[in-house]
Amino acid sequence: MAWAAMSNSLIVGKLNLMELKKMKSIIVSVVAAAGLMAAGSVLATDMPELAKKSGCTACHKIDSKLVGPAWMDVSKKYKGVKEYAYSPTGSAAAGAKKMSLEEGLMMKVAKGGTGNWGSVPMTANSPKVSDADIKTLVHFVLDLAK
Ligand code: HEC
Repeated sequence: MAWAAMSNSLIVGKLNLMELKKMKSIIVSVVAAAGLMAAGSVLATDMPELAKKSGCTACHKIDSKLVGPAWMDVSKKYKGVKEYAYSPTGSAAAGAKKMSLEEGLMMKVAKGGTGNWGSVPMTANSPKVSDADIKTLVHFVLDLAK
């Protein structure tokens, strides 16, 4: 609205001093707000666009626990680990299937499950999120602590 008002007064050539002062304070606050937004997005860029788009950010943050564990903690837990046992009820469950860490975490993210971090389950993310995107996201998580 303010911008519309300004362009109107420019068009009719009636931009007086009062209006100029008003514009200046509006511009100052717009610039300040943009600055704050920029600062905020620097922190938020921790989470890649793909994670937001895929819904992961509803439950995960990089550095702190939300519904699910902090992705940094996930990355630390599996640092140097090569094998993963997948079961919907956790890696320690009887009958958990052993596979490579990458495959296992992809399966966990795709199918969901509980037990490795507590009793809150991760809901299935497949087929809403494609296997290719899940792979990219699992790599992103694992690389965090490198
Ligand atoms: C509804 C909430 C929710 C959503 C959405 C969600 N997660 Fe999770 N996630 C969890 C919870 C809860 C756990 C812990 C599960 C457990 O204890 O085994 C978890 C665990 C994980 C783990 C560690 C798995 C393990 O066995 O150690 C990874 C990796 C992960 N999530 C990635 C993702 C990715 C990538 C997405 C987006 C495609 C995603 N999550 C979306 C809640 C969620």
